[in-house]
Amino acid sequence: MPLLRSVFIALSRNRLLRSFSERSAVGRRMSSRFVAGMEIGDALRVAAAVNRQGMAVTLDSLGESVTSEVEAHMAAEIYHQLLDSIAAQKLNANISVKLTQMGLELSPELAETIAEGLASHAGATANFDRIDMEDSSLTQVTLDIVRRLHARPALRGAIGIVIQSYLYRSQADIEQLLADGIRVRLCKGAYKEPDEVAFPRKADVDANYVRLSCLLLDSPIYHGLATHDEAMIAEAKSFARQHGIDPSRFEFQMLYGVRRDLQRSLVREGYNVRVYVPFGREWYPYFMRRLAERPANVLFLMRNFFRA
Ligand code: FDA
Repeated sequence: MPLLRSVFIALSRNRLLRSFSERSAVGRRMSSRFVAGMEIGDALRVAAAVNRQGMAVTLDSLGESVTSEVEAHMAAEIYHQLLDSIAAQKLNANISVKLTQMGLELSPELAETIAEGLASHAGATANFDRIDMEDSSLTQVTLDIVRRLHARPALRGAIGIVIQSYLYRSQADIEQLLADGIRVRLCKGAYKEPDEVAFPRKADVDANYVRLSCLLLDSPIYHGLATHDEAMIAEAKSFARQHGIDPSRFEFQMLYGVRRDLQRSLVREGYNVRVYVPFGREWYPYFMRRLAERPANVLFLMRNFFRA
């Protein structure tokens, strides 16, 4: 792992810097490139604006690893409000939820009960609840919860999952999910993982991404390919063309503020694009992970900051 990436991942876990940054006006201003704002209203305004540009949205209320049951229920309440607001404002948006924010590390049963409530609310409002994937210590429990919930007739189609191409296990997981009929978002993976569980070389992560995208595209289920990597996108487009897979049968997904040019050009070409829009006061770890992916973003942010 390149040095700068490790530095930003280490900084993303630094509590002092986090609490300072989240409170400071400078920190908020820097983060606004990647984070929609602090409140639900900010997220809904951004979602409407992204919709007007011809793209769908998935909303992420930032926050990870809660420390009490009350906090987990408070985090879920924000998502319930989002689902109601999305329906009321007729937005083309769904939700992305982290199970650690729903109390997974306190009690898997608590997280499952909360996730069940969110998926059933999503189902009742003709919407969809995507469960984000976190680090590899949580892969199995996340899969188990999503598969169990999806197996309930009332929640079928209302809940989906994320698979990371850097994990060795992902092909087997995808085969299982396809057999269950579960919608998958494929990404490369954003956490620091040991060589025993994840490909250490980027070339292998990318090759696996292409292999897994083809598996997903070839299935009758509507999946999301989450990447800003033009090579991955070109491979998916060419596989779809060669196999007569209509662009309406899948979507590309990208993060808010990242490669906006590419987002727009895919829309112009007639592909479905969904933008992942995070919001909320706990933006610091998310923001640091975006810098870890591309340390050149620091220069970009500094330039914009001093220009403004
Ligand atoms: P890669 O990192 O190889 O980058 C390819 C190119 O994309 C770069 O050369 C650059 O041009 C551009 N790029 C990438 N990141 C950039 C950035 N931050 N700023 C500017 N340019 C950038 N991860 C996870 O573990 N669990 C999850 O649930 C999710 N969910 C998720 C949803 C969505 C919609 C997206 C797009 C991504 C995620 N991720 C995620 C994150 C994902 O695993 C991965 O870390 C990032 O998407 C970066 O990988 P890329 O595929 O973009 O390629």
